[in-house]
Amino acid sequence: MRRSRKIEQTRTALVAGGAGFLGSHLCEGLLHDGYRVICVDNFLTGRMENIVSLVGQARFRLVEQDVCVPLELGEPVDRVFNLACAASPPRYQADPVHTTRTCVIGTLNLLELAASNGARFLQASTSEVYGDPEKHPQREDYVGHVNCTGPRACYDEGKRTAETLCFDYLRADMADVRVARIFNTYGPRMDSADGRIVSNLVMQALERRPLTIFGDGRQTRSFCYVTDLVEGLRRLMNVDPNPGQPVNLGNPREFSVLELASLVRELTGSRSPVKFLPLPQDDPRRRRPDIGRAKALLGWSPEVPLRKGLLQTIAYFARLDEPALESIAAISSESLSSRAGGTTDRDRGWA
Ligand SMILES: NC(=O)c1ccc[n+]([C@@H]2O[C@H](COP(=O)([O-])OP(=O)(O)OC[C@H]3O[C@@H](n4cnc5c(N)ncnc54)[C@H](O)[C@@H]3O)[C@@H](O)[C@H]2O)c1
Repeated sequence: MRRSRKIEQTRTALVAGGAGFLGSHLCEGLLHDGYRVICVDNFLTGRMENIVSLVGQARFRLVEQDVCVPLELGEPVDRVFNLACAASPPRYQADPVHTTRTCVIGTLNLLELAASNGARFLQASTSEVYGDPEKHPQREDYVGHVNCTGPRACYDEGKRTAETLCFDYLRADMADVRVARIFNTYGPRMDSADGRIVSNLVMQALERRPLTIFGDGRQTRSFCYVTDLVEGLRRLMNVDPNPGQPVNLGNPREFSVLELASLVRELTGSRSPVKFLPLPQDDPRRRRPDIGRAKALLGWSPEVPLRKGLLQTIAYFARLDEPALESIAAISSESLSSRAGGTTDRDRGWA
């Protein structure tokens, strides 16, 4: 492995998938840290509006390209963040073969780029590598329970193979590779139409449509706010020595989908009814990260409570400022609290 150039000298970071939800926040954070940023994206699910404020900045370069094609950048890089891959099930299932190619060939191309540049590499892996987990909460040493033939397999197995490649490059000393297993993350710049649970419920509530819940709504998820997640990625990329193991990044507070829907209704002041639909195949029943490793190695844990993060997300989707939304939420919360005999957010665990 070629030695990494000192960060103070060149500071160039490539973000594959940089026009997506997480990638655009990461690009912004890296620019703020003083990096020159190269965003590589094929705009499959990424959007120009996510990076419009960055395009034209002197230290920002946009390369419109599919990562399944080897990259020729014509300049050296010090850091490679691989976030390229649609993350929402309807989007990654729309062309499952391309999803597998993105996860496997795309990751391989970016690992090669990191190896030839002596750059550090960070892979955005996922809690989906645990499948429908039989162990709870999920620790990194749990090997998972994944269906390799189901409709989610292109993503789950693609990401698992990508992890295999990452650790093979690391073991062979070909690149300094780190792997983040990201759990459900939400926030501004999610695509309102890509079928993820938070954006779905928020848009339905704002548009006064029924809130759709798959199954009975008692399945659980943990929700991490985007700024917390990006901070975790930056720490994992920068930590020394290399952890040499995957690291879970997510919020360990667990909520049922029904609880999430109820909070969304409260914060939007919506009276939309809830509509129950059949549970999709292989939908995980429980999800909660054990973040002991991230705490120990990175000194990281999420800080933004669900209520605050949701308010910011709702403000983004409603194109309202936060104070306007706070007042809606306050009115709605008062009326709910008087109906529920004074139950507070803290009682419900949302604060
Ligand atoms: N957001 C989450 O909750 C979450 C959870 C677990 C893992 N992740 C991982 O984090 C990464 C980013 O997720 P996100 O939520 O920002 O999703 P996103 O869909 O908003 O972003 C993915 C980006 O990758 C780009 N892309 C997809 N295929 C590509 C290809 N072949 N070549 C070049 N660009 C390509 C898309 O255009 C998009 O800009 C993904 O790898 C995802 O698997 C996200």
